[in-house]
Amino acid sequence: MGLMSVVVSEEYGGAGLDYQAYAIGMEEVARGDAAVSVLMGVNNMYVGVVQQRGTDQQKQQFLVPYTQGQHIAFYALSEPGSGSDASAASTTAKLNGSGDYLLNGTKAWISNSKEASGGLVFATIDKSLKHKGITALLTAKDVPGLTIAKRENKLGMRASSTCQLVLNDVAIPQSQVLGGAGHGFRIAMESLDCGRIGIAAQATGIAQAALELAVDYADKRVAFGQRLSRLQLIQQKLADMALRVETARLLTWRAAWLKDNGLSITKEAAMAKLHASETATFCAHQCIQILGGMGYTTDLPAELYYRNARVTEIYEGTSEIQRIVIANCIMKGISN
Ligand code: CAA
Repeated sequence: MGLMSVVVSEEYGGAGLDYQAYAIGMEEVARGDAAVSVLMGVNNMYVGVVQQRGTDQQKQQFLVPYTQGQHIAFYALSEPGSGSDASAASTTAKLNGSGDYLLNGTKAWISNSKEASGGLVFATIDKSLKHKGITALLTAKDVPGLTIAKRENKLGMRASSTCQLVLNDVAIPQSQVLGGAGHGFRIAMESLDCGRIGIAAQATGIAQAALELAVDYADKRVAFGQRLSRLQLIQQKLADMALRVETARLLTWRAAWLKDNGLSITKEAAMAKLHASETATFCAHQCIQILGGMGYTTDLPAELYYRNARVTEIYEGTSEIQRIVIANCIMKGISN
């Protein structure tokens, strides 16, 4: 259906659509199964940046095989010692005598890494250069020295793998550097801006699913001689949920529209991601509250929405990081 590479042109096997289509697709997949949408979201972030920054040779090798779902990609930025502070990455990339980069270090919290065939790894060519040393390198997973280590046992999104990726003298040819040595931090920030549209849509999908379940239950369940949906305290919860879902969706579509029109999205994508993820948590919480004891059991998916929602406030930049990004944009006068 083109869901694994929505914005990639048809020339490379993608759907040839835009970020607005991507937001709609992500929301719908997440409404059905948020963990599956993680697989989709990370892959789309990867193919988006390879299409934008890759050379022709890189696109043939590292884009085309990843557009149709036969191959899945990872995006390895975070480390055990650097999550929010992305420029502090300590995985090293040192040129050896043969002109290859030798990668050493451990990447952490890497979505899709178990299923992936390859992806993008961020490493520093010189830690003293801080963010200006960060370099993005494309690699297959099946290369000497690269191993998938501990798989995390998570609260939610359990159908999506999250593992550590250990790099031990992994040789990567210079031709696989994406966008030039030292340009990796900007590449990471730009791709995360786009990724945040995806997480905002994913969170909106979880929130929409929670709202639908709550409405359905409130319309059937009888208490105090009438359906729950006739009780004003329940109506207030449903109205607040619906309002937040709509505002999350509109902020997400706005960021997508700005991206499709070549405009700056840093602030707007952060706002959409922040509001939608908090909306997902809010709606899943209220859904359980409306369902009462039934919401607390695994007989109905309210508890699943609650567990899945939580990470949308953490990955691709925590809610705290989104607030920093928004405040920085406001202070610098960056706005649309
Ligand atoms: N677009 C383009 N360039 C950007 C940018 C953006 N959005 N944000 C910053 N930059 C540039 C700046 O212009 C600056 O460039 P110059 O040196 O040329 O001036 C440079 O990057 C450094 O900027 P800052 O000083 O603002 O950077 P910082 O070190 O203070 O960090 C931050 C900023 C916003 C906190 C950033 O580190 C960040 O976004 N952290 C969160 C990381 C994150 O989201 N991690 C998620 C991991 S991936 C994931 O979760 C995927 C998954 O598996 C689901």
